[in-house]
Amino acid sequence: MEQWSNCIFLGECLAAMKHLENSLQEQIQLIYIDPPFFSGTDYTLKEKSEGDPSAAPELKETPIFSDKWEGGLREYLAFMRPRLEKMHALLKSSGSLWVHVDFHVAHYLKVMLDEIFGYENFVNQIVWKRTNSPKSQTSGFGNQHDLLLLYAKDHTEFSTETVYRKHDERSLRPYSYEDDRGRFRLIEIEAHGIQRTEGRKQFEWRGRRAPYLYSEDTLEKWWKQGRIYTSRNGRYSKKQYLSERKGVPVSDLWIDISPIQGSSAEYTGFSTQKPLALLSRIIESATRPADLVADFFVGSGTTAIAAEKLGRRWIVCDSQEVAVDLLLKRLRDMERDQKTEYKYTVLNIEDDTGR
Ligand SMILES: C[S@@+](CC[C@H](N)C(=O)[O-])C[C@H]1O[C@@H](n2cnc3c(N)ncnc32)[C@H](O)[C@@H]1O
Repeated sequence: MEQWSNCIFLGECLAAMKHLENSLQEQIQLIYIDPPFFSGTDYTLKEKSEGDPSAAPELKETPIFSDKWEGGLREYLAFMRPRLEKMHALLKSSGSLWVHVDFHVAHYLKVMLDEIFGYENFVNQIVWKRTNSPKSQTSGFGNQHDLLLLYAKDHTEFSTETVYRKHDERSLRPYSYEDDRGRFRLIEIEAHGIQRTEGRKQFEWRGRRAPYLYSEDTLEKWWKQGRIYTSRNGRYSKKQYLSERKGVPVSDLWIDISPIQGSSAEYTGFSTQKPLALLSRIIESATRPADLVADFFVGSGTTAIAAEKLGRRWIVCDSQEVAVDLLLKRLRDMERDQKTEYKYTVLNIEDDTGR
């Protein structure tokens, strides 16, 4: 079998997807896109020009792409629909699409994606807190988050790995108990409230009659393992040790991934660059090693870099040479740091699809 080579398309993404449709129909495990947001902004790449080292560096600004749409929302949505349809076709039945947008178009794209994927395949709307300092506004409230719309190709076949975030002061608070094995918190083992106790059989265990949530065998096993805590009034709970927890399972509210700052090590100067931690979380939750990951609006290349670091295969595309050049530079830097050589090809795609 021919050895797989990761691939960068330079060109219009609809043309790139058409190029892939025969060979990769229903083959891609994860597609992440961070397309134009209908923001009405022109985006640039800021680079320090190399000149006289004794002089203050000058900032060179190169245009990358324009997110202005003469035909308004109608034109934008007409642009997105055929591309989202092609992505749907390229996904494996167990695969997923993650569409990174914000308030400008998220609700329109939700309806469009419901039509393409089926309402039942909508999995999550993830809120990513993308800045700590929203712009102040004279009316309304400063926007502080982006949205990720997550769709499964087929929700009956899609699953995610639980991902964890680091504990913080608040999540550590319940771990206020300690024994010779370390800090622990208490987990209820008795049902409470009418709904949970109704119809539940009570039984006596170690001198206490209660509507237990677990079988007597399980409770006895935990007792022998020293995992049952007895409170002063004789009630039992299970001990959950902090050392056995990987962190806090991540919900649909992502507040722990910082935006890229000018001082971040991974900062490239690309104005819409997303953090590697964001892409790593997405890739780790929805793929396994060697799975195929794609991004058809790759910009500075974050998805390719994260996929390469995590041992996934990848296909990416961008219509702008300046973006592809930046990704190639990031790959070369990583090859130098890791003292390794990555295998990838660059393909120029004829732009026959407009915009
Ligand atoms: C928001 S940026 C992506 C940023 C990226 N997530 C990152 O971390 O750097 C969107 C990118 O989509 C590209 N783009 C816009 N229209 C495109 C099209 N029709 N086909 C391919 N790429 C396109 C732009 O050139 C831009 O680099």
